[in-house]
Amino acid sequence: MPNTILIGSQWGDEGKGKIIDVLTAQADMIVRYQGGSNAGHTVIAEGEKRVLRLVPSGILHEGKVCVIGNGVVMNPLDLIDEIEMLRSTGIECKGRLYISTRTQMVMLYHRALDKADEAARPVGKKIGTTGRGIGPAYAAKVSRTGLRCGDMLIPEFPELVREQVLETNAKLAQLNAEPLDADEMVKTYIEAAEKLRPYIIDTIPLIHKADRAGQSILLEGAQGTMLDIDFGTYPFVTSSNPTSGGACIGSGLSPRRIDRVIGVIKAYTTRVGEGPFPTEDFGEVGKTLAERGHEFGAVTGRPRRCGWFDAVVARYAQMVNGVDFWTMTKLDVMDTLPEIKICVAYELDGKRIEDMPASAAELARCKPIYETMPGWLEETSNVTSMDQLPLKAKAYVERLVELSGGRLGILSVGPARESTIRVGI
Ligand code: GDP
Ligand code: IMO
Ligand code: MG
Repeated sequence: MPNTILIGSQWGDEGKGKIIDVLTAQADMIVRYQGGSNAGHTVIAEGEKRVLRLVPSGILHEGKVCVIGNGVVMNPLDLIDEIEMLRSTGIECKGRLYISTRTQMVMLYHRALDKADEAARPVGKKIGTTGRGIGPAYAAKVSRTGLRCGDMLIPEFPELVREQVLETNAKLAQLNAEPLDADEMVKTYIEAAEKLRPYIIDTIPLIHKADRAGQSILLEGAQGTMLDIDFGTYPFVTSSNPTSGGACIGSGLSPRRIDRVIGVIKAYTTRVGEGPFPTEDFGEVGKTLAERGHEFGAVTGRPRRCGWFDAVVARYAQMVNGVDFWTMTKLDVMDTLPEIKICVAYELDGKRIEDMPASAAELARCKPIYETMPGWLEETSNVTSMDQLPLKAKAYVERLVELSGGRLGILSVGPARESTIRVGI
């Protein structure tokens, strides 16, 4: 398989975990390149469901090398839990999982800051973060005060932690939040470093050696294009670059070594947290999609907002990521809808627009312009080839691809590995 970046094309939870797991069969190395344990990537393999937050979703395939890249913000305590969860279900990470010495760490004090910051924001300004400390950890990275995984390997580590706790306590006081116990924090992280040390290496030579040897590298994005700090609905976004450009920054693999980009896109739209969502449906359709699609946060359990497919979002994602192939997921969720709408453009202040506005305030004023198609009212979850799809379902998928640009590579009609139709890839 050529070196491949896999990205989310909407507001996250498109089914990236499932598709990474499917594509891993043909890859040698899987690299997570951004985000942290705000992600929840569900993989159902051999009847067992696992939710991965930091470890690449390729870990379930024996013998594949998994890397947590430098662009990730890694919470050591969450990672230890995840490694344990995998071990308890028969998957050993040691010798197969590597963490970059350059990877920034999310500490308990970042979580405390995230929560205090959200609580202090007035209604209308809240982001609806996952509360995992992601924003504060990336803020520490760019303000050059962050601790990196490599710091866990040096004798000064306890002092570095203490320094950061004391600095954060001053910030927490400004937000009227409780201070943290520096001694306790230092103890916690000394223990964590002990456990994680064997996994931490300089991953740049590892990745490049694999590439030079002709191995196939799969770069796993978290979140989605519309949550990108630059390209998303700022400020209602995450603090990293889930888009394909972020894959090179977050892994150290050169853009010239990337062969293709796969965009994962749901056959409808969901979003968790605050921020504009033009096609959101507050009625029966939204309810049906939420229920049939089990649209609840994989980690937080928060209900996801649901609505129709938005081709303005898809076209935009195609442009900024350079999507070669689409993987469309969750078509089966729409099996019971008699009539289906697709947003083909927006109306903004009385004018029709085809392109994504840069401002979230403008997007919030956009009204979707819909095209309507008949539903297929047949079960698609047992379909194994495009020819077996009900004609109306096929027409819907083809219309979505036509409106979005790019080509269809994979169609997913159920959460399990088997419910996957390979089309163009
Ligand atoms: P990710 O964050 O992009 O990996 O997506 P999540 O795991 O958060 O959410 C996707 C959900 O949809 C998970 O519960 C998956 O098991 C499920 N899923 C993935 N693909 C399909 C599909 O084609 N059909 C159905 N019904 N469920 C799917
Ligand atoms: P995966 O990888 C869906 C959303 C949060 C919030 C915003 C900022 O599973 O697709 P953060 O905690 O990152 O500062 O929150 O981003 N968000 C996600 N939504 N899927 C995700 O990850 C998300 N990760 C963050 O709900 O609106
Ligand atoms: Mg998810």
